[in-house]
Amino acid sequence: MRKLMSVFGVAVLFALAAGPAMAAKVELPKANGRIIPATLFLVGTSDKEGRPDAAVIDRAGIAGAVGKEKMFVYVSVRPSRQTARNIDAKGVFTLNVPSRSQLEQAGFCGSVSAISGDQYIDKFAVTGLTPVKGSQVDAPMIQECPISMECKVVKTKSFGEGSHTMYIAEVKSVWIDDSVLNGSDSKFPGYPNPVKVDSILYYPGGGAGSGFYSIGQRQGASEELFKTKYPDAKQ
Ligand SMILES: Cc1cc2nc3c(=O)[nH]c(=O)nc-3n(C[C@H](O)[C@H](O)[C@H](O)COP(=O)(O)O)c2cc1C
Repeated sequence: MRKLMSVFGVAVLFALAAGPAMAAKVELPKANGRIIPATLFLVGTSDKEGRPDAAVIDRAGIAGAVGKEKMFVYVSVRPSRQTARNIDAKGVFTLNVPSRSQLEQAGFCGSVSAISGDQYIDKFAVTGLTPVKGSQVDAPMIQECPISMECKVVKTKSFGEGSHTMYIAEVKSVWIDDSVLNGSDSKFPGYPNPVKVDSILYYPGGGAGSGFYSIGQRQGASEELFKTKYPDAKQ
């Protein structure tokens, strides 16, 4: 016991002298340093013959917004994907947010290309996903996904040889399955919260822990959380 006490005492003294404990961080190669977790989208396109395609894209997000009138999103797609060829040809795509119930189909759309040699693989026919004609752009929305957006490309950016091409697009319409809306408690009239989407996130990297994850429980809104912790903070 005495020995234990003295070891404990030395450890406390050492910790006090060293200052606050720092978690150990390991530096990764830059290109593998991912932003984790990633959101998951199914990007809908069609080729010149009108054949539909859907691919999983996690390099995507909101590029910007102008008030409540305009929103811009981006998707980054490798030029070798049929999806990239379709976007290059037509300048449009749809961004569809899958829920838990479309994960198996998403797995297929993220692993199989629509073009395999001279064969065309209609991923909608294989998975049973339903292509829905948009009202704004010539690209299929996915009926089963609770949220779909029709997007028109306004700018493209390549980051050099071997990089993804980033397509920045204006959102022309947003379609939400009314079964996932929470009714009237949104702060913004006309902008109900689609909180009942059984959303999923993606942890990349391969290996046992990577893959699709369900989102857990609501933790609280930003304001209510920070005001609990920092009651005197001024906004
Ligand atoms: C979880 C996941 C995320 C992916 N993210 C991207 C991405 O951000 N960009 C990309 O070009 N491909 C991405 N892919 C790969 C494409 O979905 C895949 O190559 C698909 O087969 C392309 O189909 P297409 O050739 O019919 O367009 C991802 C795949 C998975 C499974």
